[in-house]
Amino acid sequence: MRIDIISVFPEIIKNFFKHSILKRSQDKGLVEVHMHSLREYSIDKHRRVDDYPFGGGAGMILKCEPIDRAISLLKSQRNYDEIIYTSPDGEIFNQQIANSFSLYHNLIILCGHYKGIDFRIRENLITKEISIGDYVLSGGELASVIICDTIVRLIPGVINDEQSALSDSFQDNLLAPPIYTRPSDYKGWIVPSILLSGHKKKIKDWELQQSIKRTRLLRPHL
Ligand code: ADE
Repeated sequence: MRIDIISVFPEIIKNFFKHSILKRSQDKGLVEVHMHSLREYSIDKHRRVDDYPFGGGAGMILKCEPIDRAISLLKSQRNYDEIIYTSPDGEIFNQQIANSFSLYHNLIILCGHYKGIDFRIRENLITKEISIGDYVLSGGELASVIICDTIVRLIPGVINDEQSALSDSFQDNLLAPPIYTRPSDYKGWIVPSILLSGHKKKIKDWELQQSIKRTRLLRPHL
């Protein structure tokens, strides 16, 4: 999978891709991430990418022209499955959306910033708007990292034990069961004895019961 991220502040994002699973996915050649600084697509001599809103009001708006140039250049080089804009107005991101994105080959993520982007870009170039929750971030950079992290771990081969991504919370609309490691008795806090029994079938049943119980308690709408 190739992911192109367009942002006014790519530096905010870069570090996330240098560690853990996001790094490993690139080292294994399964994912390519390309960061694009929107300023580099400005033809303004001061590399300006924002301007005042027509009609007045507070906050600056990201201009059409640098965004259009960045996206058009990428689109001239390959076909993209989706051109995503991170915005609080978007569809709320969840595991089902992540699963469908993980099947894509080429993805552009445009990060909003300031007051947002000129609406004409949303109408003419963006194919999907995604929000990571009903709250407002200073910019879409963190949202883009969350989207990437969630989808990259679903790509076969990225996580060594594929089962591990498939058994994540939400994959079957259930929260994950409680998990423990050694020692089995820490300060008198005891690991449930069933997990030490070695009885695989009983352990699976117990884990499913725990998942159902925790989902009912904590996320009944699931
Ligand atoms: N940009 C600002 N707030 C956001 C949100 N909640 N989700 C995605 N992008 C955003």
